[in-house]
Amino acid sequence: MKPHGPIPAGYRADADGMLLIGDDRAERLADLAGDTPLFAYDSAKIAARVAEWRAAMPRAVQLHYAIKANPFAPLLAFIAPMVDGFDVASGGELKAALASGMAAADISFAGPGKRDRELEAAITAGATINLESAGEATRALSIAKRLDMRPRLAVRVNPDFDLKGSGMKMGGGAKPFGVDAEAVPPLVRQVIEAGADWQGFHIFAGSQALDAAAIAETQAQTVALAARLANEIGAAPPLVNIGGGMGVPYFPGDTPVDAKAVGAALGKTLAARDAVLATSRFAMELGRWLVAEAGVYLTRIVDRKTSHGETFLVTDGGLHHQLAASGNFGTVIRRNYPIAVANRFGAEAAETVSVVGCLCTPLDRLGDQVALPRADVGDLIAIFQAGAYGATASPAAFLGQGPAREMLV
Ligand SMILES: Cc1ncc(COP(=O)(O)O)c(C=O)c1O
Repeated sequence: MKPHGPIPAGYRADADGMLLIGDDRAERLADLAGDTPLFAYDSAKIAARVAEWRAAMPRAVQLHYAIKANPFAPLLAFIAPMVDGFDVASGGELKAALASGMAAADISFAGPGKRDRELEAAITAGATINLESAGEATRALSIAKRLDMRPRLAVRVNPDFDLKGSGMKMGGGAKPFGVDAEAVPPLVRQVIEAGADWQGFHIFAGSQALDAAAIAETQAQTVALAARLANEIGAAPPLVNIGGGMGVPYFPGDTPVDAKAVGAALGKTLAARDAVLATSRFAMELGRWLVAEAGVYLTRIVDRKTSHGETFLVTDGGLHHQLAASGNFGTVIRRNYPIAVANRFGAEAAETVSVVGCLCTPLDRLGDQVALPRADVGDLIAIFQAGAYGATASPAAFLGQGPAREMLV
């Protein structure tokens, strides 16, 4: 038997043992959707996360949602009025963000390899472009000139440090993201001299960290770096986007980030900041921490079989929807995501089984030798932490099984 990750707090069953998602029975949601597999996102859980963040963080800090975590249109429309901005990573995400009702001025566009038409779309809309290189700055400025528009430009800084313990490091050393710190002051001066509306800095050091002390240390380094650059430039950045990095517990032994500790430390960091940043606004940019726990992936068992003594529950889902849960999205060693039998939620484990998907590849494993209550054909498997990097971070076209349904509850 291998352990699985912790079931997120707050999930419960009704008297029949059926998992409830936003007070709705999982089976009823599958019926409403018309079929499985289904991603169900609990809007109340998302709202609660935003409220938890606001209660924990210093008042002046703004909350931006990185829509790459989950760009499902109803979810964007729901979260847009609750946060202070969206971060997008492509022209497609920019379109989705604008369609959600988020004001263009509150949208920032980061990401390497922006094409000219994407830069043009952002400038035309009035969104902020987080410049990833000197070359991108030159292209953005010339496009703005052609359009006779004043572009909103910030510079993404490749910091000299990374976020310790993070699952994904976006700073420290050679990186395709951002402009190396020492090259930032001349670039910002060039942007200002060209007449652009300089918006400040974007400094994103890493993501999926659970250690509040490591996040706090990175935030302190980030604010110090912003101050050093601002002093060198001789101008105050209107906004310092200090990145995010708050992760969620996916695996056995993982524990939630202590958001209050992050907020308390950030309050101290900001109170002690260099005078050059006195009038700057600050923002954090979070994806999965806001939406992952709100999502449950429901997939139905279509076969139960035994091979060489191992029991397999074969489902109608798989890595084409849940690449991360299969262990093939940025993890070195495969470990089990939180998993349960949705229609026997909370029941005692009765057997050790492997839950696999319907793709003909040995990679398609959603639960490896996990202890679960007895489950059979027709029962529903629930995979948790499915609200982020599920539907849109998985190869949905692979083997022609088709995309999963999605629903905001
Ligand atoms: C620039 C940027 N912003 C935001 C995010 C979202 O990270 P997370 O979903 O871990 O909060 C990422 C993730 O890689 C990123 O690269």
